[in-house]
Amino acid sequence: MTTARGQFSSKTGFILAAVGSAVGLGNIWGFPTQAASNGGAAFLLVYLAMAFVVAYPALMAELTLGRYARANVVTALSRLSAQAPLKRTGLVAGVAALGVAVLILSFYAIVTGWMLAEFITPAAQLLQFEALASWSRGQSFGRNALMCGVISVLTILIIARGVEQGIEAWSTRLMPTLIVILLGLIVYVFTQDGALDGLRAYLVPDLSRLSDPALILSAMGQAFFSLSLGVGVMLIYGSYLRDTDNLPRLGAAVTLLDTGFAFIAGLLILPAIYVAQAQGIEVFNSEGALIAGPDLIFQVLPALFERMGQAGIWLSLAFFALMSIAALTSAISLLEVPVSVAVERWGLRRPAAAALSGGVIFVISVSIIAQFEQLFSAVVTLTTVYAQPLLGVLLCLFAGWVLHRHQLLKELRKGHPEIESTLFWRIWPFYIRYICPTLIMAAFVQSLR
Ligand code: TRP
Repeated sequence: MTTARGQFSSKTGFILAAVGSAVGLGNIWGFPTQAASNGGAAFLLVYLAMAFVVAYPALMAELTLGRYARANVVTALSRLSAQAPLKRTGLVAGVAALGVAVLILSFYAIVTGWMLAEFITPAAQLLQFEALASWSRGQSFGRNALMCGVISVLTILIIARGVEQGIEAWSTRLMPTLIVILLGLIVYVFTQDGALDGLRAYLVPDLSRLSDPALILSAMGQAFFSLSLGVGVMLIYGSYLRDTDNLPRLGAAVTLLDTGFAFIAGLLILPAIYVAQAQGIEVFNSEGALIAGPDLIFQVLPALFERMGQAGIWLSLAFFALMSIAALTSAISLLEVPVSVAVERWGLRRPAAAALSGGVIFVISVSIIAQFEQLFSAVVTLTTVYAQPLLGVLLCLFAGWVLHRHQLLKELRKGHPEIESTLFWRIWPFYIRYICPTLIMAAFVQSLR
């Protein structure tokens, strides 16, 4: 053994872990609600195009950089080149990615905590712990901080166990559970009145929206967030891949599964909204737009569950278990970013690194909860609207310009000896040098106007 670095034990293990990272609140909540308010299937079409045209090449840049460097994001970016200015730029970019991962996790853990609280509410009702149910339904500081703390501890415990025993083992348990719950809920919702109207709203495209720049932008942002790009999550997961693994194929599988999950989640959420409407629940706001965002998850759906009596309690238990599981496997991937830095650069032991990073992030989360109005959406916007695309561009540039073509080829050839004759190799190196950064920047500049 030359290194003590962890490694995914199989392709499936990697795919489940990477899809576990990718599939989260972004898929089950973000995507369906964006689709609902942006022309249904028109958004779906643009989203699919963005996922494959912009996000997949950027994902490949991260996976390839990670496996090439076999290191955390800071070390990886700072040692791609021997030239001092490039080393320094790499270091700065790596530290920025680390900081953004920490901030994303600090708001993501808060939202995951809300999901856990919403899961505890029906569980407490079933057990007839009325006081607990009304506490976990309330929006108190104590509830939010405690739930976020529970999520932090779970995340720390999983990450402390390492790549194979922690990330891979838990993704392998949780992801199949997630699929079963999701499909079960869809089947149930389709037995209810109104579901087909939701399906229509989702799948009949409002094609007039296709040329809307705002729609294209939100679709790109959504694809970036959903594939966990720009902060070194996919880079570090790539660094735990074996040399024999075929990177373009694994990346394509992750992209397909992630978009597939988003699509399927839409089959649950949109019909559920229309079922709620059929039950007399207000689903449009005063401007006539579909209620999206937090109100959808925390008001419309709970109101629906409430009207369904006993079945509703079980449904809400299943729904918020789904949300909590999806979010947990994403949260662990974000924690791996600082933990891998602390282990590889500062020589901390993994459990200590996990506790330290998780502890720092928890403190940030609690500060955000305490100053919610001022901080929460500011942190979300700063990290997901500004930092993620900019860092995404940098990562493409590092893979395309700092690594030489022959280095890329050598890395990709390890798991795919015939790579040179593939369409992927003919397009991708050029693509991440010029096209991908330009597309991302163009969309980014648009978003500032
Ligand atoms: N992709 C996850 C989701 O869709 C969230 C997530 C995990 C993420 N890791 C990330 C987002 C890194 C941005 C960057 O919910």
